[in-house]
Amino acid sequence: MPRTIIEPFRIKSVEPIRMTTPEERATLLEEARLNVFKLKADDVLLDFLTDSGTGAMSAKQWGAIMEGDESYAGANSFFRLEAVLKDLTGYKHIIPTHQGRAAERILFSVATKKGDIVPNNTHFDTTRANLEYAGGEGVDLVIPEGLQPKTRHPFKGNMDLGKLEDLLKREGHRIPFGMMTLTNNSGGGQPVSLANLRATSALLKKYGKPLVLDVCRFAENAMFIKMREEGQQHRSVKEIAQEIFSLADGCTMSAKKDGLVNIGGFLALNDETWVEAAKNMLILTEGFPTYGGLAGRDLNALAVGLEEGLHEDYLRYRLRTAEYMGEKLLAGGVSIVEPTGGHAVYIDAKAFLPHLKPEDYPAWSLCNALYLEAGIRGVEIGSVMFGRHLDDGSETYHAMELVRLAFPRRMYTQSHFDYAAEAICELKAKAPTVRGVRIVKQSRYLRHFTAEMRWA
Ligand code: F0G
Repeated sequence: MPRTIIEPFRIKSVEPIRMTTPEERATLLEEARLNVFKLKADDVLLDFLTDSGTGAMSAKQWGAIMEGDESYAGANSFFRLEAVLKDLTGYKHIIPTHQGRAAERILFSVATKKGDIVPNNTHFDTTRANLEYAGGEGVDLVIPEGLQPKTRHPFKGNMDLGKLEDLLKREGHRIPFGMMTLTNNSGGGQPVSLANLRATSALLKKYGKPLVLDVCRFAENAMFIKMREEGQQHRSVKEIAQEIFSLADGCTMSAKKDGLVNIGGFLALNDETWVEAAKNMLILTEGFPTYGGLAGRDLNALAVGLEEGLHEDYLRYRLRTAEYMGEKLLAGGVSIVEPTGGHAVYIDAKAFLPHLKPEDYPAWSLCNALYLEAGIRGVEIGSVMFGRHLDDGSETYHAMELVRLAFPRRMYTQSHFDYAAEAICELKAKAPTVRGVRIVKQSRYLRHFTAEMRWA
């Protein structure tokens, strides 16, 4: 039996991708003010900017798109999705939204108030931003291993239970509920164990607090549990996922990840008081409760995507992709966050470009160099994203300088990944020639999207 894990699909429809010359890329990057967010996607060969909404849908999903019911109220597409989600999550109320952050905004606007604290393993940026916008504060309580790129641990997304109990004891009156992000995207796409989820749920319950999950990548997390957690090998990924949902009182989801769709999300809840307020907010800002911010065809595609996203041959191939890239990069002497997570590989830019100083923005520089070298687009997770330009003119820098290569689902083949790994290892040999950058123009919030740069 061959040991190669293959893409468990064949290709019916293709899109060409464009090879550019190094000279063209140099011009294009200059025109983009050295910011890969400003590149045209047509000028990118392999686009690893994000795994969100960028994947390929199946023939079955495209078929379901044609069957979408676009009725304003009571569309059968909603009931189709609702049935899939009730079976999977067990939650009583399903509230569709146009994407994850809309579900977060609605949740925080109805379930938190000014001065509240919401603990999480690590809040994703939109989650934290929506919580802060509602007047609350996000506290990250991931285990210490989750913050150490080189420390291997099977479940680096786990919650630090000691710290959570401390916080519940000290600030319990300010905590409306706890959260858990599966997988922990900001910490490298690292999974949470079932044992840790059970313990977190029980601890919150002891203090009378509900648990709400951020389940963008719940299927990848459930597969990690099946592969790594003792006693879970005999269960189906769906059974594991069902137990995950049963440990919480609701969830938000950006379905653009493990829902295998290009747009979509939802909020699912049991609590009747939250639900009523959430549906009112949904009508005000997203749409009628049986479509939320989506078309009927989107609801149908998601109903199919959620089932396909739990196929174990797909998930085995999916997790193997990041692991395979990680192995190739490590073999080429490239430092990455270890072990690899579910949806991405994170390169340690400080180790890759040791000659650069924090003010050279090493991860940003490495992103630019990757595009120039091979037409690959990744994203900086470093000091441009998380550092600040303070009012007194000084700068703050982020502790880690990472480049995330996030992998769209079912889109690229093994030779694309071979090409990417080869190019990155070749770039490693030329690393001393990579120059730092300086910020020329920036906005006050989320500056990485629009910043203009020059070479240092
Ligand atoms: N929660 C997590 C853990 C996420 O990774 C994202 C999006 C969201 C919430 C928000 O969902 O984009 O549908 O509004 N992550 C994308 C990424 C953008 O590139 O990691 P959204």
